[in-house]
Amino acid sequence: MKLINLKWHQLILSLGCLLLIIACKNFYPTTNPDAKLLKVATDPTFIPFEIQRASGNLEGFDIDLMNAIAKVAGFAVQFESLPFDGMISTLQAKRVDAAISGITITAERLKTIAFSRPYFKAGLAIAVREDNQNIKDFNSLKGKKIAVQIGSTGADFAKTIPNAKISTFNSGPEFFQDLLNGNVDAVVSDAFATLYAIKNGKLQGIRVVADLLTEEYYGIATPKDSSHLDAINKGIATLLSNGTYKQIYQKWFNVDPPQLPDS
Ligand code: ARG
Repeated sequence: MKLINLKWHQLILSLGCLLLIIACKNFYPTTNPDAKLLKVATDPTFIPFEIQRASGNLEGFDIDLMNAIAKVAGFAVQFESLPFDGMISTLQAKRVDAAISGITITAERLKTIAFSRPYFKAGLAIAVREDNQNIKDFNSLKGKKIAVQIGSTGADFAKTIPNAKISTFNSGPEFFQDLLNGNVDAVVSDAFATLYAIKNGKLQGIRVVADLLTEEYYGIATPKDSSHLDAINKGIATLLSNGTYKQIYQKWFNVDPPQLPDS
């Protein structure tokens, strides 16, 4: 009888321990050793898509989106800051699993890396100093001094402007400073980032000229044969259908997102 009692005791104790372990696992989901860690590159000089705060913390539309994708896809993210210009070659060399950095999906880039389905509708715009009345459109850029970001779609576009004198810079803050200093006549870069910086007082003395020059879509970039692309695409689809994408878009842009193509 004593022996049986003891066994019951032991059984209850082990059951209790088991329940405690399960409870702890649910309470601390990050301790899940099976969660795959994805190294994701970003160039955090692109307000409001990726910004590095003084504390070192990364914030922005892309950061929120990538974290939300990871949550639904069941992987963990480790961001790595990289200059925009080195992003494509770093992906090609598979030194990171993915990159999110307002990267426009282009036919040229698709030759060497892969992209997720489009996650943001974007486009290029001309920015000038507020007092400049001469530059109104593409035609008025002919023969002018233009600043662009190295390796960007803005840089590719600037090459199509007849007789333009192009200066290249590593990051947004640098080419806008050159414009403010009067060294160049215009900047060709991503409209949303520029408009956001103007609206939020981060860029003073600069305005965006009328219409968008291009229609572009941002995608999450991966090496060509990435095994993560499928999970990333499914993650984006989930966020689009469950309202999370809309929430993140509204948080950063205060408006409803436009319709996105499926691929
Ligand atoms: N959308 C442009 C491109 O793909 C520029 C993106 C710049 N992004 C950045 N994080 N600096 O070329």
